[in-house]
Order: sequence, then C-alpha cells, then structure tokens
Amino acid sequence: MTLSIFRTKPISTDDTVCDTGLKRCLSAFDLTLLGVGAIIGTGIFVLTGIAAANQAGPAVVLSFVISGFACAFAALAYAELAAAVGGCGSAYGYSYVAFGEIVAWMIGWILLLEYSVAIAAVATGWAGYFNNALAAMGVGLPDMLTKSPELGGIVNLPAAAIILILMGMLIIGVRQSAQFNTAMVFVKVSAIAIFVGIAAFNVDPANWQPFMPYGWFNTLPDGKTTGVLAGASLVFFAYVGFDAVSTAAEEAKDPQRDLPIGIIASLVFCTVIYIVVSGLLTGIVPYTELGVSSPVAHALQLLGFNWASALVATGVIAGLTTVMLVLYYALTRIILSMSRDGLLSPFLSKIDTERKTPVRVIVITGIIMSLAAGMFPLGALAELVNIGTLAAFVLVCLGVIVLRIRHPDLPRPFKNPFGHLFPILGMISCAGLMAFLPAQTWLRFIAWLVLGVIVYFTYSVRHSKLAQ
Ligand code: ALA
Repeated sequence: MTLSIFRTKPISTDDTVCDTGLKRCLSAFDLTLLGVGAIIGTGIFVLTGIAAANQAGPAVVLSFVISGFACAFAALAYAELAAAVGGCGSAYGYSYVAFGEIVAWMIGWILLLEYSVAIAAVATGWAGYFNNALAAMGVGLPDMLTKSPELGGIVNLPAAAIILILMGMLIIGVRQSAQFNTAMVFVKVSAIAIFVGIAAFNVDPANWQPFMPYGWFNTLPDGKTTGVLAGASLVFFAYVGFDAVSTAAEEAKDPQRDLPIGIIASLVFCTVIYIVVSGLLTGIVPYTELGVSSPVAHALQLLGFNWASALVATGVIAGLTTVMLVLYYALTRIILSMSRDGLLSPFLSKIDTERKTPVRVIVITGIIMSLAAGMFPLGALAELVNIGTLAAFVLVCLGVIVLRIRHPDLPRPFKNPFGHLFPILGMISCAGLMAFLPAQTWLRFIAWLVLGVIVYFTYSVRHSKLAQ
C-alpha cells in the first residue's frame, strides 16, 4: 500500500482545469510588474543599511550578489515548473504533483508563514515611514497610536489600517489591484532612479574601505551572526516576492508562457537595481552611518539633498504598499488552493460571483494580519520569512528533478539547461543561506513545522479531496 500521505495530484496541462471562478486577466507584463511590486521594498530600503552597518560593511553588495544567485537558480526552477505544470501554480501546487500531499501541505503551510509574517512585518515598517511623513507635515500621530503594547503604546494604528485598506483593494478585484500596483511601482522605481542619479555623482571611494570589515562569517557570543554570508541571508528578504508571481497562475492569461517571463524578468530587473543601489549607498557615506531605519533617505540627508530624501521617503511608502499588496494577494491564492484541495476548510473556497475574488479568505486573513501588525512589534521577524522562503525554494529546485524523473515526457516549454546542474546549485545555495541564519530563527521555524504536522494529521489528511 502506498502511504496515502504521499498521494500525488495528476498533472494536467489544460489551464482550464484550474478555472474555478477567478478571472484570467493578467498578461506577462502585468505579472512582471506584480513581481517588481512584491520584490522591491523593505529589503533594499531598510535592510541594506542594517546589513552594511552590522554584518557586511561595503561588501553588502557581495551579499546581494550571493543571494541573487541563489534566487536566480530558484527562479529558473519555478519557471520550468510553471511552464510544465501551468494552470495550478505556486510552490504548493508544484509540490503536490512532484512529491505528494504531505510535502505539498508542509510547503503550503510554510508559505502561509512566509507571506503573512512578511506582510505584517512590512506593515510595521510602512507605518514608521508613514508616521515620519505625517510628522514632517506637522500632523504626526501620538506614540500611543503608533506603537504596539510591547513598545509602550496601545496600538500601531497605521500598520493595522494599511492592511485593512489593502483588504478592500483586493476585494474590489484583481484587475484594479494590478492597476494600482502598476502606478505604485512607477513611483518607487522613480524614487530609486532619483537616488541613483544623485548618488552616482557623490561617491567617495574612501567609503568602500575597509571593504569587508566583518569577514565572511562569524557567530557572536549573543548568538547573532555577522559577515558577508550572514548579510546574504538577511538581505535575501529583499528578493522575497518573485515567487508570488507563480500564485497568479489561475489569473494569468497564458500561464505556461507568461509565468516564466514574469518570474525571471522581475527578478533580473530587481537584482540589477539592488547591486547598483547597495554599491552606491556604501559609496556615498561611511557604512557605519547606515544602521538606521531609513538608510537610503538618511544618506541623502547627510549629503544635504533634503528634497531628494523626502522624495525617496515617498517612494518607500509606495514601495512597501505594493509589497504588502502582492504578498497579500499571493497569500489568499495559496489558501484558496489548499482549501479547494480539502486540506483547509472548504468554507474558505467561496469566490464572490460578482467581483470574482475570494472575499472570505481576503477578509479573514486581513483581520488577523491587521491585528498582528497593530499589536506586536514584528519588524524583527524578517529572518523567519527568509528561512521559510528558502526552505520552499530548496523543495522547488528538488521538485524540478523529481518531476523530470517521474514524468520525463511531460512537455516543458521552458527547461533549465545543463541537466540537473542549476536545480542542484539552487538547492545548495538556498540551504547554505538557511545555515547562516541564527539558531533562534531555526527554533521558531521548527515550531511552526511541528504545528503544521499536527494540523495535517488532525484535519487535512481526512478531508483531502484527493483521498475521496
Ligand atoms: N522583498 C520584499 C521586501 O523587501 C519582501 O520588502
């Protein structure tokens, strides 16, 4: 008897199999913009400074290159699976056909953690910037309305509110959300262009010395990690989000063609931006000045460009908004798939017939994340998002190999060259980045996995559609 928990979903390359009421309205260009919307955010605007000041020094640019390579291999694996498996996207969907149910469940469970924690964490970062902007206009909110109870306030109101606003946006429709995303992506990319334009003429090469003050990797007595590799596992957060494009499979016009384009194009675009911005940022001011919550705007201020600093802050607010919007969108689509497969309650599968959006999932997750962002200081949880995402990437790379062995004849409109080399490099590099994360992050992650196993064996295994 094959263990039922390893039952796999049959592959269908017919995209209409997954047509369950959502609207197929996204082109390759929309998907690329969704990717850029999800990718550029806290990572480049906030974590670059922290990684430069505390972990890598000017060599933070190498941290971005290393993380970028790991993501490139993972993106190529995503692209091959998206092209082969098509209609029912996401790492969860691919694992269901490659590995079987329990692995798919665990990946889905990890993605829930990745997206929901990322959204709530980005919301707290967004609230900080938003509040600064209000304060600059003389209408700043009092501390008790901008800090969670643990930090001495009552509620982080802007963080909770922005999630509820995005909730409304997603309910209205995916087309409208994509249009809003496009406008905001334009604002954030313009802010980056302004920064690059100014910084390029203000580099002092002396700031790049010493280039690698913390070496490659060290564990400090308090358990924290430093060095270029530790920096790479932190700034990996900056790349999180290109995988979200794959969750749009059911709303893509031609998923097998457009998803690989969207995933790879958005990643390449953002990687180039990250390398340029991190190189310039450490070139215009000493890296020791960058350990602040808004390093890009701060560096411009130190150079005396206050107007540009204000514009960049506007870009950050727009940028973080799209990160939350697209990750929120991805979260709801994953829950929807898991619920339709019977692994989560069918209550969550309902699609609003008029708007063609999964209103119940959007509202339930929105309220939970809004409460979390309002009540807890979540900014420190970026590493938890990274470990989950990296684990998903390792399995997606492995999935490429397993699927090639299990279904060698499946048409693959996009296939990684050089045999299994790229997926193997992807697994090694992503697992390596996981290894450089602090022990505390591992413990939290393992606790989440144990909870996932409990939920699977108490609910999902008995309600699985595949079993019936
Ligand atoms: N990549 C996204 C960000 O940097 C999650 O905010």
